[in-house]
Parts: sequence; structure tokens; C-alpha cells
Amino acid sequence: MSTSPLILALETSCDETAVAICDGAGQIRAAVLSSQIPEHQPYGGVVPELASRNHLLRIRPLIQEALQIAGVTLADIHAFAATAGPGLASSLLIGNTAAKGLALAAGRPFLAVNHLEGHLLSPFLGNPAGLQPGAALIVSGGHTMLLHLRGSGDYPVLGRTRDDAAGEAFDKVARMLGLPYPGGPEIDRMAASGNPSAFDFPRSMKDSGDFAFSFSGLKTSMFYLLPTLGDSAAARLPDLCASFQEAVVDVLVTKTLAAARHLGAKHVSVSGGVSCNSRLRQVFREQCARAGLTLHLAAPAHTTDNAAMIAYAALHRFHAGQFTPLESDIDPNLTL
Ligand code: KG4
Ligand code: ZN
Repeated sequence: MSTSPLILALETSCDETAVAICDGAGQIRAAVLSSQIPEHQPYGGVVPELASRNHLLRIRPLIQEALQIAGVTLADIHAFAATAGPGLASSLLIGNTAAKGLALAAGRPFLAVNHLEGHLLSPFLGNPAGLQPGAALIVSGGHTMLLHLRGSGDYPVLGRTRDDAAGEAFDKVARMLGLPYPGGPEIDRMAASGNPSAFDFPRSMKDSGDFAFSFSGLKTSMFYLLPTLGDSAAARLPDLCASFQEAVVDVLVTKTLAAARHLGAKHVSVSGGVSCNSRLRQVFREQCARAGLTLHLAAPAHTTDNAAMIAYAALHRFHAGQFTPLESDIDPNLTL
């Protein structure tokens, strides 16, 4: 039983190699992912050449695994999709070249997908009602932006970070605290036993009246605080994590709800790796319930980079007839 069209999508924008197959109803038939976190951990961040070489080794077995899980063959796939940007050039090229090769061999169309559209639509994956217009926050390692989600392909940007992305701040602060990469999940875990009011970190641009963000001041504030704590810093780790996390969450939730008020929206959606954060999810749930807003959070497995969200975004491009020539280039700096 195949609900047409079947789309096979590849995600290789950073350090996750991922393959997913989605049907015409937006149901994910298969989703497989190979994380490279252990390979990059010794370096404290993603090493681009290592990432692209690992994508090259893993992409074909993962495609075969996804086809097997979905119970289909390459001949059953109607279109092949890949993330075309933003991301690391050498990583993007692997997924793009593989998807284009498959499209060429099968005589099927290719769909280039914007990674940010993948994140943006991920909270609606599996939602029978489809996309819901409203205020949308994308909060990941590379991006922090607020958008007006008006409909498929219609996403005016309201504001974005002027310096670090929220996930970048999590990762850099975690590094200062001696926690392993990626730091976001480590801080989340540590913060669970800490006091969020122990340290008063700055809430930059919380009341700026626009929809821009800034997280570099918060990072600097941690940098100057740590030496003043001396030997007690290690014992205060949970408090430091909880207080830092609270400052980030406070700004993200406050500004997203202000955007929803500004738009007169009834729906709020939150996506990207940082939207996996347990405190962020909790505060969004509380504040949206209080404000009478319907909250759409991406499923935890769809918050960090994955191919299911790319397949779902590709399905929207497929329905819009927006196929991509095989001669198209990748764009490491692609924006929405
Ligand atoms: O969306 P993503 O996988 O990649 C980008 O497109 O950037 O996001 C990765 C980011 C990293 O900065 C990571 O530390 C952060 O998401 N992250 C978290 C959590 N899980 C992942 N940050 C805070 N709390 C988490 N639980
Ligand atoms: Zn991402």
C-alpha cells in the first residue's frame, strides 16, 4: 500500500547522516540516522572534513536500510530530496550528489530543501490538520529566528539573532564549564538539580520591542563570573547551568509570545535542536496555556537534525511543483 508520492530525503548539512521516506499523506515510512557525535567529541566541535568523509561512508547503507524498513525499492520512489543549505559545504555536497545520482538513475525529479524550512515545519509532522499559521521560533545550533508562518512556502522573518545562536551559546558555555560537546543536552541534564535563580544572568534584548535576539552578552557574563567563584565553581555547576538555561528560556519564550500577540496569532510552533530542552518545553507549555495559545512542539526525535523533517518539507515543495534542476548548487549560507 503506497500513498503517492513517496519521497526519499537525505540530510547531511552538519554531522548527522540521515535518510527518511515520507508518503503523500506526510507519514514517515522510515527514518534512520547515524550520529557522528563520538567522532567529533574529542575536538570539542564538528570537524568539517571528518564530517563529509563519514557522510560518504554511511549514506549508501543508510539509504538501503530506509528502503528496507519502508518495504519499498528505489523504483517505488517518486522524488529524491536533499538539504541544499544552510550547512557545511563539504557535508551538503555528499547528500546532494547522492540524491541527484538516484534521481538521475531513476528518471525521477530532485528536490532541494532548505534545512531551515525542515526545522520550521517539523512541529507539524504527523499532524492530521497540517501546518497551522502563527508565530514560529527556530532555535538551533546555527540559528535563532522568529517567523510568521503564514502557509506552505510563506514565512516572513520577524527577527533573528544579531550574534550567537541560542544553541551556540549552550555549546560555548558548556565548554567553559568543562562539559563535553554538544553542550546543550549536558546543561539540560545538569540544570535539573540546580537552582535557576542562583545567579542573575542578563536577559539581553528581552524588552527591546523588536524580534531580534542576542546571546553573546550572556556568554561573556558567564566567562567573567567563573573566575570569581574559584574552587566553588565545580560544586555550583548545577546552579550555573540552571541559571544560564533560565536566562535563555526566559528570552526565547517572552519574545515568541510577544510575536504571537503582535501577529494576533492563535498558534505558536517551536523547532530546532534547542527546542529539545526540557525547561524550554515546560515554560512554553505553561505560558502558551496561560495565554490561550495552541503550542506545537517538534517531537524530541525531530528537534535535532534529522531527515524526516527534510522529507516533510520536500513533500510541500513537491505539491508546489518546485522541482530543482540537477545542475543546482548547494548554498552553505542559504536563508529563508
Ligand atoms: O538543530 P540542530 O541539530 O542543528 C542545527 O541546525 O544547528 O541543533 C543542535 C543544537 C546544539 O547547539 C545543541 O547543543 C542543541 O541544539 N541542543 C540542546 C539540547 N539538545 C540539543 N540545547 C539545549 N538543551 C537540549 N536538550
Ligand atoms: Zn538543524
